[in-house]
Amino acid sequence: MADMMWAGRFSKQVDDRVNDFNSSVSFDARMYRQDIQGSVAHATMLGECGIIDIEESLAIVEGLKGILADIDSGKLHIDPNAEDIHMFVEAELTKRLGDTGKRLHTARSRNDQVALDIRMYLRDEITQIISYIEQLINTVIKLAEDNLTTIMPGYTHMQRAQPITFAHHVMAYAQMLLRDKGRLEDTYKRMNVLPLGSCALASTTYPINRDRVCELLGFDEVSQNSLDGVSDRDFCIELASALSILMLHLSRFSEEIILWCSWEFKFIELDDAFATGSSIMPQKKNPDVTELIRGKTARVYGDLNTLLTMMKGTPLAYNKDMQEDKPAIFDAIDTVKLCLKTFIPMLDTMKVIPENMRNAAARGFINATDCADYLVKKGMPFRDAYKITGTLVAKCIEKGLTLETLPIEEYKALCDVFDEGVYDAISLDTCVMQRKAKGGPAPERVKEQIEYVKRNLQK
Ligand code: ARG
Repeated sequence: MADMMWAGRFSKQVDDRVNDFNSSVSFDARMYRQDIQGSVAHATMLGECGIIDIEESLAIVEGLKGILADIDSGKLHIDPNAEDIHMFVEAELTKRLGDTGKRLHTARSRNDQVALDIRMYLRDEITQIISYIEQLINTVIKLAEDNLTTIMPGYTHMQRAQPITFAHHVMAYAQMLLRDKGRLEDTYKRMNVLPLGSCALASTTYPINRDRVCELLGFDEVSQNSLDGVSDRDFCIELASALSILMLHLSRFSEEIILWCSWEFKFIELDDAFATGSSIMPQKKNPDVTELIRGKTARVYGDLNTLLTMMKGTPLAYNKDMQEDKPAIFDAIDTVKLCLKTFIPMLDTMKVIPENMRNAAARGFINATDCADYLVKKGMPFRDAYKITGTLVAKCIEKGLTLETLPIEEYKALCDVFDEGVYDAISLDTCVMQRKAKGGPAPERVKEQIEYVKRNLQK
């Protein structure tokens, strides 16, 4: 077993079991690029501040760039037995430069180094996830623009409630996704603070220039308290929270798609490339993608819970518990990206079946509110109109009719305010077209919603 860098204080080698248990390289190796970029900035600053020789600083920067290029090209493999990615890079640098390499870790600790690397890694991931969300919103908008007049029943309690359009329905998700994007942008802002220079916990006696490192690495500001800089993971928790809410939205959308593609609804048909079959039932076409998204939502919630629970009892400042942050937050981002990557083309290729939506809208008395509103517009108090309409619905059910097919005599027998105009008032098209309050399903209003979302996407 290789000697640990910190072996000086110890009289024995670390037990292999502890070594394996302690190592995080299997999951933090993915941050090698950020680790090296952070070290390049640190070494540059050390040279500029005269903390190390300028020549040595330049040699370190070159050495680090060489390591990065070699890992990228596959020439250098990250040692799976290394303690973590930070130790690996430093050891490799020392292997290449000798004593000069040993100067890199001046005025730095792995505690601020790891806090830096995670922030840099997650910044890039957030940017990628936001771009996926934007693609998804654009897919939703396309679906909406194609279905501005596709009438479908809107539901409450899973019961047909009032007529809406498919465009209006899916645009509700566009609004949710827009907020998800906003939450990720907020998370990014609070994450984009430089912890490097906090060192182990109490900063340093060297005359470092944190602002310079901040500038080199593109952070908005430097952290204000060295203990805080190394000991909080709230930025991971915040990201996992935003991702959990995003997954919740994807999961609800998925659940609706699962219902819509069932024979009971048949509002949509999934493309064959985005559905799966059964090993025994030849007729089956299953919506596995959406079911998996529902399932993986649980997984992301689990990651959030891991992070919250991991942090709740740790005293200041760094504790090794915090190494567990990475498997959790990496799993959350990987899962979310995988879900978005598959959901977007699935939605894009999904076929809408307007006839079936309209047939469903034509049954279930979803125009009953409009029938009551018809009486109200003729001067009747809403409660009275509500009661009369309820009686009419009961009569229709008894006779096996709908409000559209119930003869005018039956209407008049119950209330003489009714005339033939009622049929127009309760036609599904009228019901939708007249719902033109701001935020409503009337096509002109949905177009406004679409414009609103498009404007926000450009911001
Ligand atoms: N691998 C460690 C982690 O992920 C790096 C920090 C180690 N710090 C320490 N004092 N042992 O948290």
